[in-house]
Amino acid sequence: MEVTIERILPGGFGLAHAAGKTLMVSLAATGDRVRVRIDREKGAVCFASIVEIIEPSAQRIEPPCPYFGRCGGCDFQQMNYQAQLDAKVAIVRDCLHRIAKISDIPQFQITAAPNDWHYRSRAQWQYDAEQKRLGYYESGSRRVCDVAECAVLAPELQKELDNLRRQMQEDALPADARYFRAVAGDKVVAVSAGVRNPTVREGAEIRRTINSETYTLDAESFFQTNEYLLPELIHAALGNASGDLAVELYSGVGLFTLPLARRFKRVIAVEDNRAAAAFARRNLAHASLTNTEVETADVASWINLECGGKAQRRRRFGSEHQSVARREDEQEIQSSVSATARQIDFLLLDPPRVGAESRVINGILQLRPKRICYVSCDPATLARDLRKLFAGGYSLDSLAAFDMFPQTHHVETIAHLTGP
Ligand SMILES: C[S@@+](CC[C@H](N)C(=O)[O-])C[C@H]1O[C@@H](n2cnc3c(N)ncnc32)[C@H](O)[C@@H]1O
Repeated sequence: MEVTIERILPGGFGLAHAAGKTLMVSLAATGDRVRVRIDREKGAVCFASIVEIIEPSAQRIEPPCPYFGRCGGCDFQQMNYQAQLDAKVAIVRDCLHRIAKISDIPQFQITAAPNDWHYRSRAQWQYDAEQKRLGYYESGSRRVCDVAECAVLAPELQKELDNLRRQMQEDALPADARYFRAVAGDKVVAVSAGVRNPTVREGAEIRRTINSETYTLDAESFFQTNEYLLPELIHAALGNASGDLAVELYSGVGLFTLPLARRFKRVIAVEDNRAAAAFARRNLAHASLTNTEVETADVASWINLECGGKAQRRRRFGSEHQSVARREDEQEIQSSVSATARQIDFLLLDPPRVGAESRVINGILQLRPKRICYVSCDPATLARDLRKLFAGGYSLDSLAAFDMFPQTHHVETIAHLTGP
């Protein structure tokens, strides 16, 4: 079947239409005239791959990586870099329009990566001990694509991959390892091996300095993969925000927590990964920041308790004239039940790709922060959650996109909202 690619969709597929069907074509560029093979059908939607490029798009380039197409890591190498950026802006707009139902999307910029290759400073490599393969999963499968050289890895991680490959060839890797995680620090790389039970944290820690803040973490901790854009990302998320109380949900090892602690009198950060929360506390202590509490908790459970605490407080202290005794009582409840008894000036959330659960969005609507900053690595779940926040009375102030993941369809988006 011959089709022309109309545009790039969320998920990175090229959109085409033929024979009454909607086609989602992998590894396409807008304007390509291609012959495709249908791989699978879901109702009127067909997922297809290119078998022949009849007329290449003006945006099409020769993918430089020899594993491209087989390796599931990159899906945008077929486009020149400007086309990748344009596609990402269109993807964000598409999600905001279709899912968040925003009719008048404000103009926004995408910040390009200073290095569109060799930028990844954190990676996970799959390991198949039987087949002696080390690399990434092949696209749409759990088969390991054996990758000797990866074009998006930072040079220090490439060295680490070479090192593991050498050990694999010498049968020196743990036979029960399923993957290796690596993260680059200012000076060294930390690696951990994921074995069946439990994951071995090798104890190696690294330090990363961003905007003069020092973050200690290990290879199992979440950290943004493209360090070159982090100063701009932090600036776009926090801007000149300041005030009495900030709340940060999904705070990791504290990338945003430290700068928040410098801008607000008090900060509450919530993170469910024990090790990440412990690193965040250490990072705050190292910076002598004592105004922040890091709660090791699931965000939905934490926010549920907060809302319960606030409701209890409202029920008990509903009257406008309070006696001194009541005020003392209130203070006790404020500290024991609701950590955020005061109004929240700024709430930042940076959830994983699945976005925030409904319970979390409902909780945010009950806590009623004056301003919200939503940092997202998936425009579709961002749009879903924004729609609920708009229904709760919040309005969109500004948007910004960051190309944290060149050569892939992924994009980081920041949305600023103001409360009713
Ligand atoms: C996208 S990362 C952001 C971390 C941090 N803001 C950063 O940029 O380094 C999401 C974080 O949320 C944490 N997380 C995931 N689900 C969670 C949940 N239900 N409750 C609390 N934290 C969660 C993960 O452990 C991870 O650290």
